[in-house]
Parts: sequence; C-alpha cells; structure tokens
Amino acid sequence: MNGPAPIAVLRQHLIDPEICIRCNTCEETCPIDAITHDSNNYVVKADVCNGCMACVPPCPTGAIDNWRNVLKADAYSIDEQFTWDELPAQNTTASPALDEVAPQPGAGDTEESAETSEGIEVDTVRGSTLPPWSSARPYVNLYTHKDPVSATVVGNYRLTDESTESDIHHIVLDFGTMPFPVLEGQSIGVLPPGSTKDGKTHHARQYSIASPRDGERKGYNNLSLTVKRVTQDYQGNAADGVCSNYLCDLKKGDKVDVIGPFGSTFLMPNHPNSHLLMICTGTGSAPMRAMTEYRRRRRLKGATGKLMLFFGARTKEELPYFGPLVNLPRDFIDTTLAFSRTVGQPKRYVQDAMRERAADVAQMLRDANTYIYVCGLKGMEDGVLQALRDIAEQNGLEWEPLWKTLKREGRLHLETY
Ligand code: A2P
Repeated sequence: MNGPAPIAVLRQHLIDPEICIRCNTCEETCPIDAITHDSNNYVVKADVCNGCMACVPPCPTGAIDNWRNVLKADAYSIDEQFTWDELPAQNTTASPALDEVAPQPGAGDTEESAETSEGIEVDTVRGSTLPPWSSARPYVNLYTHKDPVSATVVGNYRLTDESTESDIHHIVLDFGTMPFPVLEGQSIGVLPPGSTKDGKTHHARQYSIASPRDGERKGYNNLSLTVKRVTQDYQGNAADGVCSNYLCDLKKGDKVDVIGPFGSTFLMPNHPNSHLLMICTGTGSAPMRAMTEYRRRRRLKGATGKLMLFFGARTKEELPYFGPLVNLPRDFIDTTLAFSRTVGQPKRYVQDAMRERAADVAQMLRDANTYIYVCGLKGMEDGVLQALRDIAEQNGLEWEPLWKTLKREGRLHLETY
C-alpha cells in the first residue's frame, strides 16, 4: 500500500551570530569544510555538515551548538546565514516529533574521529576537548555582545624593547564592583568602538587572560592581557589591527567594553602536585604567565608539581615578560628560551629547544600527572606535536596511544592562531 511520501526534515546546524566571537576555531576544526565565513558571520553549509560534533567542544562560547528543525528543502542557505544578526526562531511547523527527524550521521557522537564524505577517517581533534579532572569550574558568557561589562584601564605598559618592531603591551583592566570571575587559560572578548566600513559595529576580539584567578594584583577584581599591536595582515601587507591598536593606545582611566569570560577546556589542574609542560611563542605566553603566577602564589601554600616552559620569540628584546621570567628561581620553573632572529646565531624554534631537552621532556611525558599546554602561532602546532612524537618514540614511549590518553584525560591543550 502506498502511504504518503515521508517529509524530509533536517536538524540544521547553525551558529549563533550574537554569541559567536569569530575566533575561527570551528572552521579550523571541521574535518569536512562544512563551516565558512564572510566579514559578517560564521555559517554552516547544510548540505555538507554531517553533525559529527567535532566543532562543538572547542568553541569557546557555545555559539556553535545551535540546531533548528527545518524541512530539508527549506534549509537555510549560507547566503541567508551571512546576513543574520540573530538566529531565527525554532520553526514549529517544521518541528515534528523527534523520531521523525532524519538522523544525522554521527550527531551526538563524541569520538575524536569522523569520516569525510569519501569515507576517509580523519583525526579531527588534536588536543583535549575536556579540561583536567581537577580544574575549577569556569564561568563562561556572563557578559555578551548585547550586554557587555565596562572595565577601566588601570595600567598599560609596553613589554618589548623600544628598539624592536614588536610592540607588545601588558594591559590591566579593572572591573570595579562588577563580578568577573576567571580562571587561568580563559579569555575575554573586547568590543572595539566604532564601526566597520559598511557601518556595522565591530565584533569582539578575543584575548587570553595573562593573570591568575585572584587578580593581576592579588585580591583585586582585575585582570591583565598581553596584546601585540597588529600592523600587517596575514599576507604581510600593511594593515592596522582594529582592536589591538585600540587597546595598545588606551590610557589609564579609559573604559573598555568586555564580554566573556570564555573557555572551558584550556584550564590548569588544581591538584598541587600536577606538572605543567608549557610551550608558547610571543603573546601565546599570556595563559602561561597566568598559570605560572597562580602556581607561584600557590607554591607558598605547598604546591609541589614541576613547571617546565619553552618560550619562543624573535629576540630576547621581543620576548614579553623577559625580565621577570628569567628572575624566577630554577627550582620553581625550568625555562628554556628559543630565539629565532638573534644576530649571529642560528634560527631556533621552541620545538628545537624541546628536542635539546628531550630527556627531561620525556620524563614529563612519562608522568601521568603532567598536563601540556601549547599556545602561540598556528605554525608551531605541527612542529610541537612532531617534537613530542619524536621525543616520546626516542625514549621508548609509543606516541599514538600516549596522544590518545593525553587527549582523553584533558592533558593536552592547544590554542594557536
Ligand atoms: P620567526 O623569526 O621565524 O618569525 P612573532 O614574533 O611573529 O609572534 O613570533 C614568535 C616566534 O615564533 C618567533 O620567534 C617566530 O620565528 C616563531 N615562529 C614562527 N613560525 C614558527 C613555527 N612554525 N614554529 C615555531 N615557532 C615559530
């Protein structure tokens, strides 16, 4: 007997433009290129997305985790999504009982691999998508684009030598009596004033917090950022970064609109005997500074875990926090610096420095209490993972199972840009 043709309904994956901070993480994470963006919005291609969920845990704001039941034939196109300022309401006429919704392959699957449309398995997630077991519970999205909090600039200092091209600032923001609880490894969004060429307000720009949870100044309701003035685009053409220039030019007493906090996985363990292996370049040092300073404060209360840091910069004059860093006692933090442009010396990257210290890195890798953090230039991610692999294998550790364990146990955190 012929029944009525089934209505094809799609659980369409959408990104909330009001919460999205345009950090590009989802687009980079998606194994099948289902996510794209224009100057306005990040959007999902309905005909490509297979609901594998790989993009959901890494999204710092949760903007990615939005779904609408639509008739398949009426799925929102990417051109429509590019124009949105907010998500459409749930269309109840296209919201049949759940069992009528066409299942999406892989939807709800939290495995760390997914299949492309050609059936090729790809490793979608290179780092942990969950925090260390002992990390404190973070607050996220307390303030949004629609309802930001106003912070006051209480400090703005250049960190890099005046003689260098790199203009990196340490900026301290105070929240007065407004609650702004943060953890080391989290970030905030800054809303630069003014508007884009086509008259739209600027989207928030994301910055890692460089101070510990109890304040840049202990006991104060403030935090710090490490901001590099952007003067070039990715192609190397002269271009002034909207938000970095705004921030670097701020004066004491100026007000800044802030949203966030963001981030619920790149967090430090709270158990005091845990070891931190930190690898960073340039302003990627912000979360490492936050974690190191928290441990320094906690050490006075008996934290015993080891801290090992690999930090790369062009020269020592361009390394943010060089002075304070080299003054930290060796029995508190084991620091190796890697300079790539010191005159008369060969180019040296963090991954080269890690290889030179292979025996010590391997000892950290062997210890189930070690938590690894990588933050900085996108390009370093491959190099650092390759160095970890080589070091593990040269020291009798099988990298693939170790890598899986590190990811599963919230012990490998990557944040590159
Ligand atoms: P380079 O001299 O090759 O640019 P920046 O100052 O641009 O933020 O960079 C910080 C440091 O990271 C610099 O020493 C830079 O070296 C280095 N770097 C650049 N690419 C990589 C990479 N693929 N892996 C590791 N370090 C890198």
